[in-house]
Amino acid sequence: MKKARFITLEGIDGAGKSTQMSRIEAALDSLGIGYLVTREPGGTPLGEKLRDILLHQDMHPETEALLMFASRAEHLSSVIRPALEAGTWVISDRFTDASFAYQGGGRGLDYGKLAMLEQWVQGTFRPDLTLLFDVPVEVARKRLMKNASLDRFEHERDAFFGRVRDAYLDRAARFPERFVVIDSGAPPEEIGERLEEVIATLCL
Ligand code: TYD
Repeated sequence: MKKARFITLEGIDGAGKSTQMSRIEAALDSLGIGYLVTREPGGTPLGEKLRDILLHQDMHPETEALLMFASRAEHLSSVIRPALEAGTWVISDRFTDASFAYQGGGRGLDYGKLAMLEQWVQGTFRPDLTLLFDVPVEVARKRLMKNASLDRFEHERDAFFGRVRDAYLDRAARFPERFVVIDSGAPPEEIGERLEEVIATLCL
């Protein structure tokens, strides 16, 4: 049996990740792959409590980064690694690239400090595939405005999301071996086909 893969979904708030998740699940189902879907911050009972704090409580940017990685440490040890070892693929709605994009790009935290946390929590562990759903900030903003209640991140200004988007695109250019950038504004059928194609190559 082929080694289980770890796939992450990234993008600025309002990039349409949730819509894309169902397409990814359909692609995995059609290939007969066993998988679990999880998210960050969150994915464990402790992580979900941390998520609630992170999304609603104001805090220092370093505290924010540390809590993101605390949630990740728990997630990795109790969900992600055990699932992959058991042969189950793991699809996570966000992972460490979000910390570099939001805490690094958005909040301006030192990338070196984030890289230290990444090394501490993950060692050399990285996603096999990172799907970056890319969308202009104005388009994402329009989508977000349809939500009844916005969290602490979604309340940020367009300039913040511009920096987050740039940081994501920089990482995609730096790690082309695992990143695939998908234009969220492309026709749905085109996105669906692209996702099926990319996921199928992971099975080879
Ligand atoms: P998300 O699940 O995309 O929010 P929603 O449920 O509203 O679609 O992500 C929650 C927020 O957490 C998002 O604004 C990005 C932020 N985040 C970080 O700032 N750093 C991180 O490391 C992670 C994983 C998420």
